[in-house]
Amino acid sequence: MPPTLLLAGASGALGRAIAAHLPTTALLRDQGPGPGPRWSTESGVIDGVPEPVAAVLCAAGAPLLSPAGLRSVEPSLRAHRQLADWIAARGRRPSVFISLSSARVFGEQGEALLDEDSPGGADPVARAWAEQEAAAAAVEAVGVRAVILRLGLVMHPGLGLLHRLGPALRHGLLGPWGGGRQWLPWVGLNDVLRVTELALHHEELRGVLHLVAPGQLRQGQWAAALREAAGHPRRPGLPLPAAALRRALAPADVDGLLLQSRRLRPTALLDLGYSFAQPELVAAVAPLLPRG
Ligand SMILES: NC(=O)c1ccc[n+]([C@@H]2O[C@H](COP(=O)([O-])OP(=O)(O)OC[C@H]3O[C@@H](n4cnc5c(N)ncnc54)[C@H](OP(=O)(O)O)[C@@H]3O)[C@@H](O)[C@H]2O)c1
Repeated sequence: MPPTLLLAGASGALGRAIAAHLPTTALLRDQGPGPGPRWSTESGVIDGVPEPVAAVLCAAGAPLLSPAGLRSVEPSLRAHRQLADWIAARGRRPSVFISLSSARVFGEQGEALLDEDSPGGADPVARAWAEQEAAAAAVEAVGVRAVILRLGLVMHPGLGLLHRLGPALRHGLLGPWGGGRQWLPWVGLNDVLRVTELALHHEELRGVLHLVAPGQLRQGQWAAALREAAGHPRRPGLPLPAAALRRALAPADVDGLLLQSRRLRPTALLDLGYSFAQPELVAAVAPLLPRG
């Protein structure tokens, strides 16, 4: 048997992309009896996993546009706690636990430039993301390398937000939202896949890594880049006040996703010499979009 790369959240947008890129084994949730690994998220019991397990990847969580508040983070927090406990309780442990976290661990940060060791946010959602990161990092105590990928919005048409914004994007309507000056961390899907693969094999990748493109943008610049990518470089876009955006995307956590300002720098990856495959938003997204 080749070693198992066990993937939680395999049916999700990022889980599917990771499974298409790497030979993973899906950890199925709340299934009845039958072959294959199973996971009861009620009890935390995991069984039927083919041995040996080389790595565990957790891409499980609430949808990106899930309702605001703690409900947006509780499923991934619980999943991380259960997986970390399962790893710790095993006789033969995997060598690495890769966890998907979020820039939302910072809450609202204004203009501050945020490295991996900058303090997290104080609001309850930011604190819950920090608890998730702590749960993932706890496997280091039992000799398992933890890699915590703090993601910005993953920019790929099949993924969450861009999918939902499809019509506005196609018609060149995306504009500054809530003033548009807030920093909006983003990352290309290719970099998510490349860094996930590197994290499997390279001991020097450990702890929290900011997985955001190095050229960070304010939301208004992000919208302009997306208009350009969709073939509408001269359209001004439609400015939306925060209240209108909240109504348009209700009940999603619009403040947490799009209105709070977080200027993340991928310091650890740059220090390791990582070269981003998709450093620029227009070039990352344009080949994937139908032209307007
Ligand atoms: N997409 C982004 O831009 C982005 C950015 C930053 C952070 N993240 C984080 O990365 C993770 C994956 O994102 P995604 O966009 O792939 O999300 P997604 O499409 O919503 O997929 C998440 C997957 O998690 C599993 N899941 C759902 N509810 C669960 C529950 N209550 N307990 C355990 N597992 C549950 C499901 O997979 P199964 O049915 O196969 O179990 C689901 O398909 C999430 O935690 C998200 O917050 C994503």
